[in-house]
Amino acid sequence: MRVLVSGGAGYIGSHTVLSLLDAGHDVLVVDDFANSKPTVIPRLESLSGKHVPLHSFDLTDVDKTEHLFAHEHIDAVIHFAGFKAVGESVGKPLDYYANNLGSTFSLVRAMAAHDVKRLVFSSSATVYGDSAPVPYHEDYQPLASSSPYGWTKVMQERVLTDVAAATEGMKVALLRYFNPVGAHTSGEIGEDPQGIPNNLMPFISQVAVGRRDKLSIFGDDYPTKDGTCERDYIHVLDLAEGHVAAVEHLATMSEPVRAFNLGTGQGTSVLEMLHAFEKAVGHELPHEIVGRRAGDLPAYWADSTRADNELGWKATRTVEDMCADTWRWQSQNPQGFPGA
Ligand code: WQD
Repeated sequence: MRVLVSGGAGYIGSHTVLSLLDAGHDVLVVDDFANSKPTVIPRLESLSGKHVPLHSFDLTDVDKTEHLFAHEHIDAVIHFAGFKAVGESVGKPLDYYANNLGSTFSLVRAMAAHDVKRLVFSSSATVYGDSAPVPYHEDYQPLASSSPYGWTKVMQERVLTDVAAATEGMKVALLRYFNPVGAHTSGEIGEDPQGIPNNLMPFISQVAVGRRDKLSIFGDDYPTKDGTCERDYIHVLDLAEGHVAAVEHLATMSEPVRAFNLGTGQGTSVLEMLHAFEKAVGHELPHEIVGRRAGDLPAYWADSTRADNELGWKATRTVEDMCADTWRWQSQNPQGFPGA
């Protein structure tokens, strides 16, 4: 298949591009580099030995999106593009709704106009809100969230569900990620957040490489195994392979829309992740316990049996793999990808 990857220069998008190429698919990327760098693309080409056509524009631009579909052969779309910082979204709700919903409207309109009926959507565990029973299961209702970012994911899932129901033959997979971490084993691509990292793993790796003084652990008084929050961390290569399995599954999927959790089904605490990273680095890392972060839940992880049963996909990489691969990427690229 020839697969359009929106946000294909981003963290999960770039790893998915490589997995698609490895699986024998052709890929083209659209990315406006709002949250990524152009230097990712030549690295993907050197890692894969294949050409990765790049279209650089904002997907909320309806005319440019239509032009892309009118001039390129596209069999399926994997839609990553969007703003994704939970905290930032609270202060910029309109930017998040306009960008995340607008890009999806523009994309789906162009797909409809050019008879492209296969879509994998990058959703998030955040759609389960803060009162779903753990482990999270795809049939949980109602979906909700605690941030404008999370609501954009709930709303995009709703839009895609209704559009698929109204479009003969359209098939949509909604992939709900838990906590993506890790990097390609080459160390050539990885997570490169702009500014101060919000997420745990990139913050730890920046402490390890000397870009940050120490890790602040947001609370150790939670009702968990060691008092720190537990999350379902999943290796980005497992996640990328899950996207390939999903896009290949669409042709035989009986329902118009189906949600799939992509997680390991295991909870790992902040302290466990920190100590695993210290083992990868070979020494202790400076850290201190500080107050809780608003909005954090004590513990949650995925029930991913549906992805196993229906996509033939399971996460296989360990927390040790996540830390070793992250550290290889970060130590080879202390300042992340080159270029502005
Ligand atoms: C994990 C744990 C923190 C940083 C977020 C989004 C979610 C999804 C994945 C997009 C928590 C603790 C963190 C630090 C810390 N993104 N922590 N010190 O919050 O589980 O999920 O990313 O879909 O929507 O909410 O991930 O990595 O931010 O935090 O102690 O400097 O690490 O308190 O317990 P989170 P996270």
